[in-house]
Amino acid sequence: MKMLVTGGAGFIGTNFIKYILKKYPYYAVINYDKLTYAGNLENLKDLETHPNYSFVRGDILNTELLDYIMKGVDVVVHFAAESHVDRSIMEADVFVLTNVVGTFSVLEAAKKNNVKRFHHISTDEVFGSLGAEGLFHEDTPYDPRSPYASSKAASDHLVRAYYHTHGLPITVSNCSNNYGPYQFPEKLIPLFVTNLIEGKKVPLYGDGKNVRDWVHVSDHNEAVDLIIHEGKVGETYCIGAQSERTNRQITDLILAKMGVGEEMVEYVEDRKGHDRRYAIRPYKIMAELGWKPRVSFEEGMEQTINWYRENQDWWKKVKSGEYLEYYEKQYGRKNVVVVQKNMENNEKNSGIEI
Ligand code: NAD
Ligand code: DAU
Repeated sequence: MKMLVTGGAGFIGTNFIKYILKKYPYYAVINYDKLTYAGNLENLKDLETHPNYSFVRGDILNTELLDYIMKGVDVVVHFAAESHVDRSIMEADVFVLTNVVGTFSVLEAAKKNNVKRFHHISTDEVFGSLGAEGLFHEDTPYDPRSPYASSKAASDHLVRAYYHTHGLPITVSNCSNNYGPYQFPEKLIPLFVTNLIEGKKVPLYGDGKNVRDWVHVSDHNEAVDLIIHEGKVGETYCIGAQSERTNRQITDLILAKMGVGEEMVEYVEDRKGHDRRYAIRPYKIMAELGWKPRVSFEEGMEQTINWYRENQDWWKKVKSGEYLEYYEKQYGRKNVVVVQKNMENNEKNSGIEI
């Protein structure tokens, strides 16, 4: 098996490559990554001497290079993307280029080289935003609402078009919010944990009641492994661990684990167009492929917080240069919102309330 992983130096891709080469050490894995601000080769240092791992620095927009690298590849797993919603609100150009045009370019190379499987990694954000009720599933109509979500939706449509039009053997997965080691500290969980280690406050958007459905990155990757090996060509699988939490609940859990109090929370201006709730119904992948999440949210958070405590060199290097410029642009201009005391108290004791 020769596998090409795009975006393998990012958060999920890193964890995926480590998982695959541990489980199938005889697979040849090529990591194709541009190394944007989010890509970090240090993540994969332990694989440098692995006989079946190789790295190619390349842009997915470079179809010529992709075509060359894809010779003899059996399976493409396409993670490469611009992935942060806030950055897409600030500047969407690169999201359209990488996520839409870039995916088109990977599809073209895959078609030309007759790959046996093209697996596209997508997100639940393509389905839009839920109210208090309901769950996203494979037949939920698309309703993306951020530039990031729209660019991922467009890429999903292209992938399916290559199946219907050209017979490219594709599968697609739409997964909920991942957490775990190596996540770039611009995303909620690593941002809050690393800020608190640095003695900084955590910026909670709006009223803190937006809901996300969290899955540990290892469970996501196990699902992708199953889809690649046993999933049906042309099919889509929704992945999620049925682990909904409000952002306030996540914040409280992190505060408690870090031994700090309410004074470290700063309610800030809301994200523009902030989707209220995401939640996945993962029954298809459970029933058809026998997938089920193994890591409970509490256990996963404990491990993740410990990982950021023990790997401060990793994120301190990352939280410099370009990151600081981004942080200033993103949070420097946000107004601190004063939240009524009674609302905070209610939220602490309530479950999910929309
Ligand atoms: P990430 O931002 O951590 O990593 C993205 C990787 O892609 C980086 O290594 C980056 O260098 C690379 N990349 C970006 N542009 C590139 C280009 N033009 N050419 C080649 N490489 C390029 O992202 P992530 O969180 O690991 O997400 C990976 C994939 O999973 C994305 O497609 C994302 O939409 C999807 N996804 C993420 C989540 C989540 O919670 N993080 C959930 C569902 C789906
Ligand atoms: O649902 C899957 C998606 O999850 C992926 O497709 C995206 O790539 C990934 O980034 C993630 O998107 P979110 O926007 O849900 O994740 P983020 O970590 O940015 O935010 C999670 C929630 O926390 C969201 O409701 C916004 C809120 N938040 C986030 C940040 C960065 C805050 O309150 N404060 C913050 O500073």
